[in-house]
Amino acid sequence: MSHLEMPNYMIHFGQADQLLLELIPREQYSKLLILLDTNTSRDCLPLISKKLDQYPSVQFITIDPGEQYKTIETCQQIWQELLQTNTDRKALMINLGGGVIGDMGGFAASTYKRGIDFIQIPTTLLSQVDASVGGKLGVDFNKLKNVIGLFRDPKAVIIDHRFFQTLEEKELLSGWAEMLKHALIDSKAHWESLQALDPLQIATHSDSVQNSITVKQRVVLEDPFEAGSRKMLNFGHTYGHAYEALEHSRTQNPATHGASVAQGMMIALALSVGKCGFDHEQAKLIIRKLHEWYTYDPIVAPEQIQLLLQFMQNDKKNESIELRFCLIEEIGKVQLSVPVAFDEVLEAMNTVKTMLHADE
Ligand SMILES: NC(=O)c1ccc[n+]([C@@H]2O[C@H](COP(=O)([O-])OP(=O)(O)OC[C@H]3O[C@@H](n4cnc5c(N)ncnc54)[C@H](O)[C@@H]3O)[C@@H](O)[C@H]2O)c1
Ligand SMILES: [Zn+2]
Repeated sequence: MSHLEMPNYMIHFGQADQLLLELIPREQYSKLLILLDTNTSRDCLPLISKKLDQYPSVQFITIDPGEQYKTIETCQQIWQELLQTNTDRKALMINLGGGVIGDMGGFAASTYKRGIDFIQIPTTLLSQVDASVGGKLGVDFNKLKNVIGLFRDPKAVIIDHRFFQTLEEKELLSGWAEMLKHALIDSKAHWESLQALDPLQIATHSDSVQNSITVKQRVVLEDPFEAGSRKMLNFGHTYGHAYEALEHSRTQNPATHGASVAQGMMIALALSVGKCGFDHEQAKLIIRKLHEWYTYDPIVAPEQIQLLLQFMQNDKKNESIELRFCLIEEIGKVQLSVPVAFDEVLEAMNTVKTMLHADE
């Protein structure tokens, strides 16, 4: 079984139940706390539960699924359960779930009695390739995403592709977009090999998941606290976040984060052609490839365009009113903070439309 090394912990690849037994000696912790949501309790717990019998004390904390529960109130519920069961500082929390469970569970563990150890077992593609690497933990507050939180490392991260078996298609595609992003900021070879795969068969390509995590690992190691180069992970996200926010404001069934970022990458590629000299034909090919998995939503109504602009300006990653985009000169060569006028975004939206629908 393989692993990747971070400065203070390792990311292990293999069967989660087996790895748990190897990583956590029976007597090392006073008890194991397993944080789940109702979906991962049903679908993911069975993959590790048999081996849990080996431990003298195991306690389950199950919460409702979804981003709307990534809150301080849910943390209070978690802390309440920890206190009621006399949990001491020698307990270990195991976060078994997607990015919501990982971010919030890590935060709740890091703050309980000034911090207890925790292990991340991410069970969505998105949380495996993105959320579980880099030490960012936290919850949403006042409708703002991830505004309360901290950087803290887990004791270990365990990556097991068997969890993908039960994941909905739209969740697989959400994580797939982050993998495509990692490839585009990494290298031509990475992009070429990844774009040929079928995301719905990702469980059979666990090496590509590992490659993707390696990109995130490299970027995070270079800039752990996002002082500069880590911003390259925002490729596709200025427009992507705004589109995601627009979706949340207008529909009960919004596009996922990844599907929004995929559209953001289409816009970023079109901008990259005009502003960084990215090859026009190659941009068209990539945009068309992205369109095989993600529909592009051409936004034409003026009031929606206005909203989109507002959301882009509110994006916390933009330091001032002037829009800043992470663009690429070529695959693997990133320009971090390119100033972009809103008119240029509108132009890029048209370029994407033309690239997708022109016949040649
Ligand atoms: N810390 C970071 O660096 C970082 C990076 C990216 C995203 N995030 C955070 O991650 C969160 C999004 O993560 P997500 O996309 O994993 O969402 P999520 O945790 O909400 O999971 C998506 C859905 O899939 C279900 N699920 C999880 N694993 C399953 C499985 N194996 N089988 C069936 N259903 C399963 C969940 O119950 C949930 O309904 C956001 O809150 C975001 O802010 C954090
Ligand atoms: Zn993202």
